[in-house]
Amino acid sequence: VNLKEYNTFNISVQAKNFATFSDVNSLQQLLNEIDKDNLMILGGGSNVLFQKDFEGIILRNEILGIDLIEESNNDVLLKVGAGETWHEFVLYAINNNYGGIENLSLIPGSVGASPMQNIGAYGVEIKDVFHSLEAVEIQTGKIKTFTHEECQFGYRESVFKKALKNQYIITSVTYRLSKNHILNTSYGAIETELKLQGIQNPTIKDISNAVITIRQSKLPDPNEIGNAGSFFKNPVISKKQYDKIKEEFPTIPCYAVDEENVKVPAGWLIDHSGWKGKTFGDYGVHKKQALVLVNYGEASGSEIYKLSSEIIEDISTRFGIALEREVNIIE
Ligand code: FAD
Ligand code: EPU
Repeated sequence: VNLKEYNTFNISVQAKNFATFSDVNSLQQLLNEIDKDNLMILGGGSNVLFQKDFEGIILRNEILGIDLIEESNNDVLLKVGAGETWHEFVLYAINNNYGGIENLSLIPGSVGASPMQNIGAYGVEIKDVFHSLEAVEIQTGKIKTFTHEECQFGYRESVFKKALKNQYIITSVTYRLSKNHILNTSYGAIETELKLQGIQNPTIKDISNAVITIRQSKLPDPNEIGNAGSFFKNPVISKKQYDKIKEEFPTIPCYAVDEENVKVPAGWLIDHSGWKGKTFGDYGVHKKQALVLVNYGEASGSEIYKLSSEIIEDISTRFGIALEREVNIIE
């Protein structure tokens, strides 16, 4: 199977085997029949870069369903099938007036991948509304429930990218959403957008619309240009190092992390090193957002990977900062 239409980078690679599953039983059955040591679970393919043909089996998660499993005066617990599209779930929540994920509107991909890197945008992360998840252990086929604590969420991190990497297939995620909303408009761009639209008492729908407008203004639509969103994480550095860099580059922004550290936007570093909009053949750095690497046509995964290595090296030389890739690299 050619995976081009299954990854938003539009990288053309072959998978030796490919299967889908739409419930937990058929997944368990599949696991009995295949080579468990050579499989990859795929959702929307919006956070992966394939470097070469995949010699094993790709399992595509198509488990659907949104179930209300508990309700109180203040909130609801919704258990959502891992194969649901994330943004469709966001729209479902907004239409039912359940709050908490409106800031995460328009993030591509599946519900099942949302805990993987603790997806985040505009001041909210999935960990803020996460209740628990169910997953199937690949080696044994057993179902395990993971609590919030067990997922070990961090910035673009969870236990599933670290200690338990490639060991579990997430089959459903349960979120706690609010009926009495606490809006998060801390991200400057949201305030600006709401003002521009003349909205004074925003609803969750207004926040969602504002986020969608902001995202569409700078992030490339994967249906038009291949990409996987931010290619790198925003690095955390010491305040000491930040102050030193600021002497030479007075406009460098930062976000607070803790007493000793700050986070700096990798997009700013890459932009101010002259990479923004650079194009090499079919691939390059996006024109409006330097953190996004793009495939304009038939670029290969290894070309894009090589570009990312060059950027990492350049940023290290200029600023003494080690950028880390955010996208999952599939070798
Ligand atoms: P995939 O790309 O299919 O998989 C990603 C990883 O998770 C792979 O390692 C895969 O094996 C694993 N995986 C997938 N499903 C499961 C499962 N059910 N069980 C176990 N492992 C699984 N991310 C953000 O956090 N914030 C953003 O604002 C954001 N903006 C984006 C904008 C654009 C234009 C694009 C293209 C991407 C953006 N992303 C963003 C990245 C991406 O949307 C998220 O990482 C998303 O959660 C990926 O979901 P997916 O289903 O496509 O995962
Ligand atoms: N910037 C530049 N030039 C650029 C890009 C950014 O100077 O080319 C500056 C901006 O001016 C701004 C700062 O960098 O001062 C931050 O930019 P932006 O608000 O666009 O956010 P980001 O830090 O680049 C992060 C996430 C996004 C998320 C947005 C909104 C990471 C790695 N990325 O991007 O997530 O949508 O904030 O919250 O944390 C993703 O993970 O795929 C993703 C898109």
